[in-house]
Amino acid sequence: LRIAVLASGRGSNLQALIAARDAGTLPVEFVLVGSDKASAGALELAQAAGIPRLALNPKAYPSRRDFDLDLFARIEATGAELLVLAGYMRILDGEALHPWVGRMINIHPSLLPKYRGLHTHRRALEAGDLEHGASVHYVTAELDGGPVIAQARIGIEAGDHEDLLAQRLLAYEHRLLPAVVRLIAASRLAYAAPDGVALDGER
Ligand code: GRF
Repeated sequence: LRIAVLASGRGSNLQALIAARDAGTLPVEFVLVGSDKASAGALELAQAAGIPRLALNPKAYPSRRDFDLDLFARIEATGAELLVLAGYMRILDGEALHPWVGRMINIHPSLLPKYRGLHTHRRALEAGDLEHGASVHYVTAELDGGPVIAQARIGIEAGDHEDLLAQRLLAYEHRLLPAVVRLIAASRLAYAAPDGVALDGER
């Protein structure tokens, strides 16, 4: 499976995918790692792994849609069959992402549908939740709102704080994301469009 990855930050989830590929347990070819941040650690990881890199500066575009249309056009040109958002922190334009619905997934650090958006660990702690987790879901125009594919669930422990919880969860993210990509690579997952979301060509 040819995959492209978008990441804005350190890229530990990207690294987990690369490690799984290197271990022979994830039959993928990385065709691109893209970022909206030239300084992203993920781009350094990609370079070290010999994966083509792309850094685009949002400020160089007149609008979010222009940026995303260019980004997706470049990804499409790589022949990527699956686009993985692994800590990509930019909201995507709904119109621009539409052709990728069904072949783009995201990892989000909460038990969706709880806590879409930012500060998920803090919000789970503040709510007094006993459980926390991470979700991998298909990306639709609704932020963190597309169909959930799989979740990792962990207990919240006495003495947990935001960073500790985030760090403990991250280890589970690093197993969850490769597991989902493995299912897609094996054609064992199919996108099920929620009501009201049309796939390209169905509009
Ligand atoms: C992860 O917690 C992921 O769930 C969230 O952003 C973080 C990215 O971490 N969307 P990394 O850059 O993969 O280390």
